[in-house]
Amino acid sequence: MSSSAESSLPADLIQRFTDQQEPHLHDLCQWLRIPSVSSDPAAAEAMQQAAVWLEDKFRSAGLATRRIATPGFDLVYAETPPVPGAPVVLVYGHYDVQPPEPLNKWISGPFEPTVRDGNLYARGATDDKGQVLTHVQSVTEWLSSGQPLPLQVKFLIEGEEEVGSEGLAAILPSITDLIACDCVVVSDSSQYGDGQPAITYGLRGILAMEIRVDGPKQDLHSGSFGGAVMNPAIALCQLMASMIGADGRIAVEGFYDEVRELDAAEQGLLDELQGDDQQLAAQLGVAALVGEAGYSTNARRWARPTFDINGLTSGHQGEGGKTIIPAAATAKFTFRLVPDQDPQRIAAAVQRHLESHLPAGVRLSIELGHGAPGMIASIDSPFVDAAKLAIEEAFGTPPVMIREGGSIPIVAQFQAALGADCLLLGWGLNDDGAHSPNEKFRVADYYRGIQASARLWHYLGRVRR
Ligand code: BES
Ligand code: MN
Ligand code: MN
Repeated sequence: MSSSAESSLPADLIQRFTDQQEPHLHDLCQWLRIPSVSSDPAAAEAMQQAAVWLEDKFRSAGLATRRIATPGFDLVYAETPPVPGAPVVLVYGHYDVQPPEPLNKWISGPFEPTVRDGNLYARGATDDKGQVLTHVQSVTEWLSSGQPLPLQVKFLIEGEEEVGSEGLAAILPSITDLIACDCVVVSDSSQYGDGQPAITYGLRGILAMEIRVDGPKQDLHSGSFGGAVMNPAIALCQLMASMIGADGRIAVEGFYDEVRELDAAEQGLLDELQGDDQQLAAQLGVAALVGEAGYSTNARRWARPTFDINGLTSGHQGEGGKTIIPAAATAKFTFRLVPDQDPQRIAAAVQRHLESHLPAGVRLSIELGHGAPGMIASIDSPFVDAAKLAIEEAFGTPPVMIREGGSIPIVAQFQAALGADCLLLGWGLNDDGAHSPNEKFRVADYYRGIQASARLWHYLGRVRR
């Protein structure tokens, strides 16, 4: 196995990446200053700015680039010249970010990127602008060295991943020729731990729903009318509680019908990786880890479906008490799905469950949100072998193969529509705080990501089609 001393890349190219670290960080800070929150209607202009920023970055490095309209936010597409006989790689990622709230929990502003203790803090630092930019920098830097890339790289960076990728999904059939490739590369996940890089071969899917329980036509005095009408907040709590048993299993009929069980070999792999539950509990600030009975923590986080309430609203939210029966109650919730669960079938089963468990005296409305199936990538392909070499060279340690519990909705559709292998190469860390206050990306991981990306082009370029 090669060590970092005997590198795959010419010394002058490696030197270039080192010399350019400061401008590379500066670029990322510029991009992070644009508050591209896809779920915020007020951020439409920032969404456009973030797309244009990336387009300009590609154009100034001489890549052919353009924005592609969707029913939602634009995609940014770019490509390097074709290389006959060598594979074509598609880099996918997203320039949209999650909302920054709660703002008062941030030490420095979410859109004022700041380096502290070797970490770059900003919304989107790890999810996903920082990780996307590792590939952009490795390609643009390589090209500006005057040397040709050993393969064609296409980029498709979207603006709606955090809201379900519906715009991209809608136009995917019309761009499959444009983005045709042998292998999709996605850096939008994490290493297994500090000092332990990973290749992710599985993601969970997702099904999002929002329900509303309506009762009396307006809030009522709970003394005068309590005991005579159904309280919508109680009805909502009963409905939510009916979804999950004390054993942590989801109580919706048929929910587990299509769940692919772990085989013994994979169970063994997860067990080998199993970390310390106590340590994770401490990191997360909980007394103990809990979940579906009979499965290890890794299995529960990566390979088992789950139900989570993301938001609950009803009644008096202000200071002090208020003795009312609220007129309505709402809940936002999601299921994480695993192969081979079908989001549409699960949605129908959940709908039936909610309707049949609704207490008398209230009305229920159900709104379906985004849905995406889980995915499994192949773990033995020449592309995976190439990625292992690239990562070992850049990080100094060979990667372990892991699954992740998060979702990247479009990835399963890429597999189906493009027939391409998928490489999920996360440069982040589990404590980067994605979706949380004080999101960060370790500066050293940004630079290592760029180094690994460059080596990836080298090793992938040697795979023959
Ligand atoms: N980068 C994440 C997905 C992810 C998270 C992968 C953790 C691996 C580990 C992505 O940006 C994300 O947050 N996806 C959403 C999708 C949803 C909003 C449709 C998710 O998983 O909640
Ligand atoms: Mn992401
Ligand atoms: Mn995210």
